[in-house]
Amino acid sequence: MNTPRIGPHQLSSNILLAPMAGLTDQPFRNLCRQFGAGMATSEMTTADTAMWRSRKSQHRLVLDNENGLKVIQIAGSDPQQISEAAKAIEGLGADIIDINMGCPAKKVCKKLAGSALLQDEQLVKQILEAAVSAVSIPVTLKIRTGWDLAHRNGPEIAAMAESIGIAALAVHGRTRSCMFKADVEYDTIAEIKQRIDIPVFANGDIKTPQQAAVVLEKTGADGVMIGRGALGQPWLFTAINSWLNKKLLPNPPSIIEQRDIILNHLKALHELYGSNTGVRVARKHLSWYCQHIEGAAEFKYSFVRLNSAEDQLQITFDFFDRCQSTEAAADLAASRHGELGSWYQARKSSPTRKQSRRRLENRARQNSPKFS
Ligand SMILES: Cc1cc2nc3c(=O)[nH]c(=O)nc-3n(C[C@H](O)[C@H](O)[C@H](O)COP(=O)(O)O)c2cc1C
Repeated sequence: MNTPRIGPHQLSSNILLAPMAGLTDQPFRNLCRQFGAGMATSEMTTADTAMWRSRKSQHRLVLDNENGLKVIQIAGSDPQQISEAAKAIEGLGADIIDINMGCPAKKVCKKLAGSALLQDEQLVKQILEAAVSAVSIPVTLKIRTGWDLAHRNGPEIAAMAESIGIAALAVHGRTRSCMFKADVEYDTIAEIKQRIDIPVFANGDIKTPQQAAVVLEKTGADGVMIGRGALGQPWLFTAINSWLNKKLLPNPPSIIEQRDIILNHLKALHELYGSNTGVRVARKHLSWYCQHIEGAAEFKYSFVRLNSAEDQLQITFDFFDRCQSTEAAADLAASRHGELGSWYQARKSSPTRKQSRRRLENRARQNSPKFS
């Protein structure tokens, strides 16, 4: 399959990870790329470089050890600030700069940044011109379809962006006022795709390989961007790539593979943020993993109450060790062959599994290594 090109960069896949503040930090980006995401954009960083000394911005600007294209997203409304931030990000070694005109958060929109900018096309023009002329690396843009249903100017913004030199466009198919609720407007994304020649990535509510295929067909987009669907199952990218290219649905990772993926993810979070913040960030990700694992409620309950990195690793190891020994493994194996519409859904817990659990828990406890 032909994959899109962004400036000099030929993407390895047309399935991208969406930027998500508080979530798409370097450990999660690397994980998603490891499972086949063609590009993974950072969480948004303010264009006000005076704020970059804050710990939050420092974490968002980490580019060392990125296992693929380094893409930093900036949010701001002052063309001069955008220009300075773009230059500084290029100086940090980024491959691509992404401009955020999609975020609906009140905190961001109050400053007329994120999706609020879609209300002021002249300002959009100035911001994009400032960014593109400041750097020699590609600048991409992420938008919504407009401010509200009465002002769906996504196609006009897209055409303007292309004429200014924006290298690719991601479109969350909702207006700002629709937040995350209304149906995604595939027809508006299709209209945008028809208006411009740069790569267009359709975004919004894609959670399965089959949905990705439908969105690509309905919109004619060059690729899709996945946000919430990847949380707790970064291997979704493998499944989507496989479905689109070979019409095959691969098994999700085995219990042991999931254990190792999650343990490595947790360790990377502890390392990036330090143990205090790392433990808190890890709780979020672990909770999403648990949403895809039948019978993980007690484990999650205990995990999110732990305050030490070592304890988080230990309890995770122990849980998966138990899972491996019990019928949960069989449940997961069966779920891999589940219905196409719900690519990966653990089956409801069975009485047999519950009965066998206590006996096997004791056995697992004796065999578990110590992380402290
Ligand atoms: C928690 C959260 C944080 C987000 N942060 C950003 C962000 O920093 N920059 C951005 O452009 N979009 C952000 N978004 C929007 C997503 O990139 C994406 O457009 C949206 O979630 C719709 O895609 P999805 O249905 O696949 O999640 C965020 C969304 C969520 C849920």
